Amino acid sequence: MAQLIYFSLAGPTWTNGTVVNQPIGNTARLAQLIGQQLALSPVSIRVKPSYPCDYSALETRAQAEITHWPTIVRAPKVQSTIIYLGYPIWFGDVPPAVKRWLTSVSASFELRPFVTHEGSGVGRSLQSLQTLVPQAKMTSSLAVRGGRVDRATVAVNHWLLGFE
Ligand SMILES: Cc1cc2nc3c(=O)[nH]c(=O)nc-3n(C[C@H](O)[C@H](O)[C@H](O)COP(=O)(O)O)c2cc1C
Repeated sequence: MAQLIYFSLAGPTWTNGTVVNQPIGNTARLAQLIGQQLALSPVSIRVKPSYPCDYSALETRAQAEITHWPTIVRAPKVQSTIIYLGYPIWFGDVPPAVKRWLTSVSASFELRPFVTHEGSGVGRSLQSLQTLVPQAKMTSSLAVRGGRVDRATVAVNHWLLGFE
């Protein structure tokens, strides 16, 4: 059995070079797409306090989180041997909320990362994941530009086929 876990922010997001307001974040929509293919319900990692709706305030908060990781209010339990883990690239890396969640995970599992980004691809996030959960077996990752998430079905299917 597998689990589909993600972190994503609704509200202001950089998409195609501008800040747009989105009711559902890019990574959340990518998680939905993957979930449809795998018949899995995506579960999100949530932190408190919630993130500001103003983009520059969000950026300030995200910068501060690099040194002070946020508190998790919803920490999905790892109950499977395969984890699909989705996150947006923040400053070239895994968002601190995801880092915080991973430090609470001790189980051994296969980690299948998927990311959304605005140009930098996976950045250095895969190295971070390997450092945070050295017990996990890392597989190939999927990186989709935020603005292309709604047209990512072929890329998703191609990525998933690699696991068959
Ligand atoms: C604080 C912050 C930092 C970001 N840093 C990067 C970055 O280093 N490289 C990049 O390509 N995109 C970066 N982005 C853009 C996001 O990765 C991209 O918009 C992503 O699709 C957002 O996903 P979400 O809507 O699921 O939160 C950043 C966005 C935020 C809010």
